Amino acid sequence: MASSQLVVVCLFVASAVTVTMNGGAQAQAQPIVPAVISFGDSTVDVGNNNYLPGAVFKADYAPYGQGFARHKATGRFSDGKIVTDITAETLGFESYAPPYLSPQASGKNLLTGANFASAASSYYDDTAAMYDAITLTQQLKYYKEYQSKLAAVAGRARARAILGDALYVVSTGTGDFLQNYYHNASLSHRYDVEQYTDLLVGIFSGFANELYRLGARRIGVTSMPPLGCLPASIRLYGDGKGACVPRLNRDAETFNAKLNATVKALKRRHADLKLAILDIYTPLRKLAQDPAAYGFADARGTCCRTGTAKTRVYLCNPTTAGTCRNASSYVFFDAVHPSEAANVFIAESTVDAGIELVT
Ligand SMILES: *[C@@H]1O[C@H](CO)[C@@H](O)[C@H](O)[C@H]1NC(C)=O
Ligand SMILES: *[C@@H]1O[C@H](CO)[C@@H](O)[C@H](O)[C@H]1NC(C)=O
Ligand SMILES: *[C@@H]1O[C@H](CO)[C@@H](O)[C@H](O)[C@H]1NC(C)=O
Repeated sequence: MASSQLVVVCLFVASAVTVTMNGGAQAQAQPIVPAVISFGDSTVDVGNNNYLPGAVFKADYAPYGQGFARHKATGRFSDGKIVTDITAETLGFESYAPPYLSPQASGKNLLTGANFASAASSYYDDTAAMYDAITLTQQLKYYKEYQSKLAAVAGRARARAILGDALYVVSTGTGDFLQNYYHNASLSHRYDVEQYTDLLVGIFSGFANELYRLGARRIGVTSMPPLGCLPASIRLYGDGKGACVPRLNRDAETFNAKLNATVKALKRRHADLKLAILDIYTPLRKLAQDPAAYGFADARGTCCRTGTAKTRVYLCNPTTAGTCRNASSYVFFDAVHPSEAANVFIAESTVDAGIELVT
């Protein structure tokens, strides 16, 4: 089923190519959308945190990237590609939008988008600030700066067209629970889960409205993943049972139901806005519960050896960088981030929503 959807996307790519060729201007394949612009946390960070001296979460060391081009640790939190890399390829891009803080984010490279994401970022700015990550508020400021830079490179009219046709991805929120709420008594006293999820979804709504005001017309937002099935959660909150933690998955579901309602409200408010939920909860939950059914051997362990120190419990341990023999048989590469093989599965299952955005 997923592969037939991919075929549909490929057909759109093919027709885009045909149009270009017939136009005769250039014989090069054109992606379906001119640019991909991403905001959020480690699920979409492609290396911004490498440029933040104080950032607590970085993936700039082996074994991150061991399956990526030139086996390079780029700052992506996986053995290989992340979901947005796979989506970009499906859309016909031959390269990925650069991390905005990198020297590559300049000149013509800006024409195909930019990536503003930062590991440990979050909806709630306080969470990001605790880990010296780029807050969502600051990501939006960088985006405005990017708009001016793009206009300087492309001219105002072309820049406006690129920004209006670009695919925007917003992927964040896990840190608001795992890196803040679940171990922050003052926060969890102040807000119960209902109130806290209202707060987070309200921040998303404000962010999406602001993106719209700035010219975005195609926005995909990821759902909250099954928080209780992440290996770090099972270790920290699983009472030694080695199973998904139902309470945490319920929190994710509470958030997702509110996100659904908010997305519907935003679409009613802005008739010309394409806005879709890229549901990562469902595929990841399927993989976590029955890995064998989808060709995976392990959904509880982590492919790389994770650490034990405060933050390292989530990440591969840089000093004992051992990995499993075959990352493709693991759902999780480290204790919170899926392997490339799992990312491929997640990307395929979000193709439907993606088509809605780009056509
Ligand atoms: C608890 O959360 C608040 C608000 O997000 C934050 O300012 C504070 O630093 C957090 N405290 C701890 C101990 O994590
Ligand atoms: C969100 O809405 C879609 C359809 O609009 C539905 O398929 C999905 O189950 C909903 N998710 C939640 C968490 O309510
Ligand atoms: C790695 O694991 C995947 C999925 O289980 C399997 O399809 C593949 O053949 C394995 N590769 C090797 C080299 O063992």
